[in-house]
Amino acid sequence: MPKRYALVGTGSRASMYVNALIERADKASLVALADTNAHRIGVHTAAIEAKGHPAPAAYDAADFDRLLAETKPDTVIVTSVDATHHEYILAALAAGCDVICEKPLTTTAEHAAEILEAEAKSKGTVTVTFNYRYNPLHEKVADLLREGAIGEIISVGFDWLLDTRHGADYFRRWHRESANSGGLLVHKSGHHFDLVNWWLDSAPIQAFAKGRLAFYGENGERNGHDRGYARATGDPASAEDPFALRLDDNEGLKSMFLDAESEDGYIRDQNVFAPGVTIYDDMMSLVDYESGVTLSYRLTAYSPWEGYRVHFNGTQGRLELLVVENDHVNPAAHGPNGASLHGAEAAAEQGWYELTVHPLWTKPERIDVGEYQRKGHGGGDVRMLGVLFDGDTDPHDRSANAQDGINALAAGLASNASIESGQPVVVAELFK
Ligand SMILES: NC(=O)c1ccc[n+]([C@@H]2O[C@H](COP(=O)([O-])OP(=O)(O)OC[C@H]3O[C@@H](n4cnc5c(N)ncnc54)[C@H](O)[C@@H]3O)[C@@H](O)[C@H]2O)c1
Repeated sequence: MPKRYALVGTGSRASMYVNALIERADKASLVALADTNAHRIGVHTAAIEAKGHPAPAAYDAADFDRLLAETKPDTVIVTSVDATHHEYILAALAAGCDVICEKPLTTTAEHAAEILEAEAKSKGTVTVTFNYRYNPLHEKVADLLREGAIGEIISVGFDWLLDTRHGADYFRRWHRESANSGGLLVHKSGHHFDLVNWWLDSAPIQAFAKGRLAFYGENGERNGHDRGYARATGDPASAEDPFALRLDDNEGLKSMFLDAESEDGYIRDQNVFAPGVTIYDDMMSLVDYESGVTLSYRLTAYSPWEGYRVHFNGTQGRLELLVVENDHVNPAAHGPNGASLHGAEAAAEQGWYELTVHPLWTKPERIDVGEYQRKGHGGGDVRMLGVLFDGDTDPHDRSANAQDGINALAAGLASNASIESGQPVVVAELFK
């Protein structure tokens, strides 16, 4: 019998899961879709039917309990707006379902505690899909560190750059409001904090952070970037704006967002310099780990190039990874009917990396992990789907549970609280 899946939150990210399930129709059955927006459910349903598969049952998200009772899924996939994840996780666990949840697990410490408690009472379990763990480069880093390539790790430096294609996208839509996304230290840095937690096999205990909105939002006028429109589509003032995303330029964006607007007023193409941004675009945090390791972390959301540098200092040397990523705007394979869901073209530069181990007293060694994979988070998405749906082996222990999700959230929430208070924040105090 194929395993039964229901999915809630039928936006862009949902496409990856919907496609993965219908490609595995012999062992997976997508029985229901839910969203607050019926039009968006319809876009996915049409794409499913066009590929010759039966339409899943469609439910308003408000009827999620009825969905669970009527369609009896084994597993619920949660790809809705971040601040709503907990609602569906809790309902699914109460019904005894397993949960596959997109990062972040949730956006508050209170909901995190509720999820842990609900999971303890349920026969279901929660998996958080930290796809970056499945990137072959990141696995190699994990292997090298675990093999002791640089001895005992003392400190980590991590500098992540989002370029003005990808970074800007968080300022066009719901992410721009902290109440929806927890801000980028939760929504985006959760990936990075999770990687560090996994690499170190440890958890954050304290954070001291600085953060501000310095580029997007109303800074655009001062910085000379703002063209003074509210949304890009249909406004001539956006015509020459390199930051603009026009929904009617792209069939995928038009059908999924522009044509769905009348139902919920979700505007996908706001001017990134329009007022109302309540998240930061420039952040840094000093994080202490249970193991004694210290992390210095920075996230910049307005960079000319995209990628990251991470380095580990150890008792026997240093490991350095530099990645030029630039693959964000290439999600065509994930959209319904193959349509791209992002308006901008991929950056011209191909992704590349340099992974180097510098042992003490000897020559550095460049590590080759094959060609850099441009699509789907460095190739992580496809490999993660294999573990989630095909039972592929997981020798690197990449699968993340609810506690991993909370540990990834912890550094972000503590950093946000520290920015607010100006003081270091102890994680245990937040999660009391
Ligand atoms: N792991 C990754 O690399 C990755 C990449 C992209 C997105 N994501 C995650 O996937 C999730 C969805 O992001 P997206 O980019 O697809 O956003 P999106 O805006 O395209 O889709 C979000 C969907 O949620 C729906 N929604 C809003 N409120 C809801 C509610 N109360 N109940 C149910 N549905 C509701 C919206 O109508 C929309 O269809 C987010 O949690 C995001 O963090 C993860």
